[in-house]
Amino acid sequence: MENLIAANWKMNPSSQKEAQEIFSALGGPASGWEGVEVVICPPFVYLPALAQSVGGFALGAQNCFWEEKGAFTGEISAAMLKDLRVEYVLIGHSERRKYFNETDELINKKIKKALEFGLKVIFCIGETAQKRDEGKKEEVLERQLRGGLAGIDNIKDVNIAYEPVWAISSGDPYKTKELPTTEKVKEISLFIKNLLAKIYNQETAEKIRIIYGGSANSENAQGYLKDAGMQGLLVGGASLSAEEFIKIIKSAE
Ligand code: PGA
Repeated sequence: MENLIAANWKMNPSSQKEAQEIFSALGGPASGWEGVEVVICPPFVYLPALAQSVGGFALGAQNCFWEEKGAFTGEISAAMLKDLRVEYVLIGHSERRKYFNETDELINKKIKKALEFGLKVIFCIGETAQKRDEGKKEEVLERQLRGGLAGIDNIKDVNIAYEPVWAISSGDPYKTKELPTTEKVKEISLFIKNLLAKIYNQETAEKIRIIYGGSANSENAQGYLKDAGMQGLLVGGASLSAEEFIKIIKSAE
């Protein structure tokens, strides 16, 4: 199984010119990586321009709507993404759960539609600091996982990103207060695998990539990949520097 290194640019950068600069800085050196799949998820508006020079990457979107088309002002459908040669979509990110009130039910509808249109999904789950401190981490993760995957029989195109909300940076991945230890992340990864085996079966669970996200950077990437045994990383802040992101990709090779 190849590692998956995905860049979540969030609402950055502020111009298409800058987006193209980061993208081309990654382009040359990053196109020949062995054993690692690299996905760049820029804001929607940059997708058409970046799709022209996508090279060795896959493109991903940061969201999509659960209906195919129609009177849904401001929304973007899975069909539109597919038409732009987008291969991946992030669904269930904690920032969308928090700022846009995305519930497990809505997330489930989005995952279903994305899969129906042949997109691969990076399905994000993660507990807040409050739930962690209340000892309800597993409960939250199980609710999110079961809710998001309800009624979905085939999850071969689903990747699970474990992103503890309290570890996500506000832009600078070197400025977090705390990070989960690799032991804790390994434990959670096993918990998720076991849950998937219960919902589906062992064979299916083995084939699903579980990746880590939350202040991942070139200094901690190895730890999460090697020691915690994660099958990839979802990188926010650190993916906006081509140099830093290339180092992270290298750790995943
Ligand atoms: P971060 O973001 O790497 O800046 O913490 C990760 C994410 O939110 O996907």
